[in-house]
Amino acid sequence: MKKLNVGLIGYGFMGRTHSNAFRKVNNFFDLEYQPVLKAICARDEKKARGFASKWGYESVESDWRRLIERDDIDLIDIASPNNTHAEIAIAAAKAGKMIMCEKPLSMDGPEGKTMVAAVEKAKVPNMVWYNYRRVPAVTLAKQLVDEGRLGKIFHYRAKFLQDWTISPDLPQGGAALWRLDAKIAGSGVTGDLLAHCIDTAIWINGSIDKVNAMTETFIKERKHNLTGKVQKVSIDDACAFLARFKNGSLATFESTRYARGHKALYTFEINGENASIAWDLHDLHRLQYFDHKDEGRVRGWRNIHVTDGDQPYMKNWWVPGLQIGYEHTFVHQVADFIEGLQTGKPASPTFREALETQFICDAVLKSAKTERWEKIGK
Ligand SMILES: NC(=O)c1ccc[n+]([C@@H]2O[C@H](COP(=O)([O-])OP(=O)(O)OC[C@H]3O[C@@H](n4cnc5c(N)ncnc54)[C@H](O)[C@@H]3O)[C@@H](O)[C@H]2O)c1
Repeated sequence: MKKLNVGLIGYGFMGRTHSNAFRKVNNFFDLEYQPVLKAICARDEKKARGFASKWGYESVESDWRRLIERDDIDLIDIASPNNTHAEIAIAAAKAGKMIMCEKPLSMDGPEGKTMVAAVEKAKVPNMVWYNYRRVPAVTLAKQLVDEGRLGKIFHYRAKFLQDWTISPDLPQGGAALWRLDAKIAGSGVTGDLLAHCIDTAIWINGSIDKVNAMTETFIKERKHNLTGKVQKVSIDDACAFLARFKNGSLATFESTRYARGHKALYTFEINGENASIAWDLHDLHRLQYFDHKDEGRVRGWRNIHVTDGDQPYMKNWWVPGLQIGYEHTFVHQVADFIEGLQTGKPASPTFREALETQFICDAVLKSAKTERWEKIGK
């Protein structure tokens, strides 16, 4: 097997999911490449050493520039906060490295464009970790729509609800709370959560033409962890928007971190002329499917347990009936990336494909300010 030497940047939540995926992928997928955990990079060298010994990384770097200079690294994996993605990705592309980058691709569309230009100029394989595409039930939903089973699509409805920022005592900024700081995150729920919903939506239902949004920042000021001062909160705490897809369907998207009782309730529903589909992250291995062609007496919502060998990805796991979970979506993403290297057909979404989501997020945030419909930029 050919070695694929990985240099990971960031050992937080995503650093763990990616490391787990690189370690497991060859146990479950037959591939020509084997990821090797060469180096973990984070600013705190002591903590990075602890992470390296736990996950089996061979070495540690405290400056990502040094990691990129290394000849023994083939692939740079960016799992650090959003404001670091562009600088790291552009430098990595110039150094000829393959790049896997966490979502959202960038702080905004124009910045994302510079990243797309860099990877395309350098002709390096690249991908963005929109892992929900790799939930088998979500991939199955995409297959059913592509096969035309739903017929003409009328509605797409998505939401992503959490409740972890309701307390006014929660500070903003710094480790783990950089998501509340727009200078680091780019935006609030729009770039963090709706980006996932948008990516899935455009993958399954095609491009969005225009959007009309509203956002709110419920807690206006919070203590900032880095300055120690009470500062204005500049992220969107909640966002809801209407969208018109180019295929004529109408959509609603909603996200908030103020939906008491919901931790990560990502759901979507698609209604077509012949059939409907619904999916829920809290029950991620199931796909709800209603087919109007079924005989009337027994027609109803089917609850498909997506665990069988002929369903997406599942032949690589256990036996039919035994489900998989969240972490497996990252294993699938690595497997798909490697298959892309083998076949020369890049795995989706590439930086260019993920750029569309950035411009939709930009239009959503703009519309919330202008209170008008906004077309999607390029
Ligand atoms: N695909 C998903 O479902 C998903 C889920 C969560 C987060 N994310 C994305 O993953 C990225 C990281 O999020 P997270 O939840 O893992 O964050 P986190 O706060 O848990 O971890 C971030 C890591 O980056 C490191 N870091 C920060 N600045 C750095 C720098 N300049 N150089 C090197 N390391 C640096 C931090 O020390 C930390 O280890 C973000 O872009 C986020 O949007 C994606």
